[in-house]
Amino acid sequence: MLGEPPRPVRVGVLGAGTVGAALLRLMARHPHLEATAALVRDPDRPRDLGPRPVRVTTDPDVVLDGADVVVELLGGVDRPTELMAAAAARGARLVTANKAALAERWDVWGPWVRAGRVGLEAAVMAGTPVVGPLAGALRGSRLRSLEALLNGTCGYLIGRLEAGVAFDDAVAEAQRLGYAEADPALDVDGIDAAHKLTVIARLCADPDLAWSDVRPTVRGVRGLTPDAVRAEVAAGRRVRLVAALEPDGAGGWRTSVEPRSVPADHPLALLGDGRGALVYRGDAVGEVWIAGPGAGAEATASAVLGDVLDAAAGRPGPTPIAERVWSATTPS
Ligand code: NAP
Ligand code: HSE
Repeated sequence: MLGEPPRPVRVGVLGAGTVGAALLRLMARHPHLEATAALVRDPDRPRDLGPRPVRVTTDPDVVLDGADVVVELLGGVDRPTELMAAAAARGARLVTANKAALAERWDVWGPWVRAGRVGLEAAVMAGTPVVGPLAGALRGSRLRSLEALLNGTCGYLIGRLEAGVAFDDAVAEAQRLGYAEADPALDVDGIDAAHKLTVIARLCADPDLAWSDVRPTVRGVRGLTPDAVRAEVAAGRRVRLVAALEPDGAGGWRTSVEPRSVPADHPLALLGDGRGALVYRGDAVGEVWIAGPGAGAEATASAVLGDVLDAAAGRPGPTPIAERVWSATTPS
């Protein structure tokens, strides 16, 4: 006698904006994934949620009830954390692209991440795998230093400034392309890059790194002009918003996010044209470069869906490094 067919995995989606809508479109390729509903603020707003009907609601309980996996794509810090706490209390696996909540509410998210309950690949560099390598293969080395381009909006913006486009016009373009945060000041002031740096530093250097220690080390790209970035190009250099994790000279780690002028043959100059990029330097592995799309609807939804598929298959999420890694006193 044939057994019952396996029941679909029920996925609750909090947010159906740029990334949430793209996720629902991609999920339609996977018949064993079924959306419970999608939470929004404005249910009357037209949206392309793909070929399968999806219930759109302003009631979180409709999304959370019966969900095996809950995906948070709202943005913000406290409201998404509250809703994910409700999902966790109901026993759901959690997936998020929300680096702000991960960075700033580690008191709540940390225990879930340590328990392997959270998929968070999309929170850093969108669809380009960074979280997985830092929580996996790269753990075989001791970190020496890390430099990265973690904000897609700023990468795009600097490219447009090089092309002579005015700052505010370039920000508006990044918003239209779906790269920017709901509040683009988070991008241009370096906060979004700092959120992501905090998340990855906890994976590979210090599991207890506090947001309050990272926040004061942040400077964004506000005030950059086409003339300033073109002068760097003319001098054989490129401007990049660099997020760095470096030895502090006393065995610990120093974080920073700031615009830097790097030589044209630096990996972040070569890799960074409109892409996210990360250069990891480890004692055994040497220098590893990772680059790819760092923002955008489909690119981000791709990583979110990867995490949903992992959760649906019962595979654990990434965990922070177990203990703080003491840095070499000088960078190699
Ligand atoms: P978005 O376009 O602003 O979408 C947010 C969605 O959440 C919208 O559907 C919105 O409803 C809904 N929402 C927000 N607050 C809500 C509330 N309090 N109650 C009910 N619904 C609410 O944002 P997004 O670009 O998709 O980004 C979502 C998350 O992914 C953010 O954490 C962002 O940092 C992260 N992320 C984005 C990208 C990217 O390239 N865009 C890449 C990586 C990570 P309405 O549609 O009705 O307004
Ligand atoms: N606003 C973010 C960025 C989205 O520009 O990088 C991707 O996290």
